[in-house]
Amino acid sequence: MKSDTYDLSGRVALVTGGAGLLGIQHSSALIESGATVYVADINDEAVQKACTELGDKAKPLHLDVTDADDVVCALELILDENEGIHILVNNAAIDPKADANSVIESSRLENFPLEQWCYQIEVGLTGAFLCSKVFGVWMADNGGGTILNIASDLSVFAPDQRLYHIAGLPEARQPVKPVTYPVIKTALIGLTRYLATYWANKNIRVNALSPGGVFTNQSDEFVSRLTSLIPLGRMARPNEYRAAVQFLCSDASGYMTGQNIVIDGGRSVL
Ligand SMILES: NC(=O)c1ccc[n+]([C@@H]2O[C@H](COP(=O)([O-])OP(=O)(O)OC[C@H]3O[C@@H](n4cnc5c(N)ncnc54)[C@H](O)[C@@H]3O)[C@@H](O)[C@H]2O)c1
Repeated sequence: MKSDTYDLSGRVALVTGGAGLLGIQHSSALIESGATVYVADINDEAVQKACTELGDKAKPLHLDVTDADDVVCALELILDENEGIHILVNNAAIDPKADANSVIESSRLENFPLEQWCYQIEVGLTGAFLCSKVFGVWMADNGGGTILNIASDLSVFAPDQRLYHIAGLPEARQPVKPVTYPVIKTALIGLTRYLATYWANKNIRVNALSPGGVFTNQSDEFVSRLTSLIPLGRMARPNEYRAAVQFLCSDASGYMTGQNIVIDGGRSVL
């Protein structure tokens, strides 16, 4: 049985990108620990569906993390409905799939469009900055809270582009993991450390979680290449980050701030 330091009863959380694959898991994990969770996303249909599945403690919220006014409105709405906000999970990101035909050639550095660079950084990094600024300032003025930045194993090592190789294509046409993804995820660790020390005296703890790849029926070839690099020999299940989210967002991690927990089946220690 978990100790009551994991108990989040009475706390209010916001999960950005909350309607996506892992956002739903983070939201559900926080609800399981007792929190009320605002499932915040630009995809309204997915938010409604997620909240129906998650039950009464899940609150749907339309939020574009790149829009500063939207973020301020989200705080105002949460404060209208609750006494405060205690937990922020910066989870929204764009993760272009290397096997999608439309991004194959444009994923390469030499072709990578400036607009995609700006857009992906805006969602994955500027969005985390804006939400941390607005919600974190409120927390700093109102007794504290916790912020969790969802990074990636690519915050601690470079992409292995051989994973995405397609036999028979010339090098100039080979898909790659775009430059933006590891840049954003590495920068999120810098943001984590900055905010952790900036608000240490305000009772705000800020940590990062770096998941490895989740199995979502990727091709056998991709899975076999990737799992050969993972000591535990498999990709993650979507529910395998829940306990870490509960730990990092609760008093159970009360003496921890500015850290990056890497959960990757051991890949990064090889
Ligand atoms: N799935 C994995 O294998 C994996 C591995 C490592 C890290 N991660 C990280 O975990 C997080 C969640 O990944 P996921 O697999 O659930 O992705 P996902 O694509 O399923 O979900 C991302 C969500 O973000 C939302 N979103 C996009 N732009 C937004 C915006 N401007 N404002 C608000 N919401 C917006 C999308 O609508 C979507 O619901 C991401 O930060 C991702 O980089 C995922």
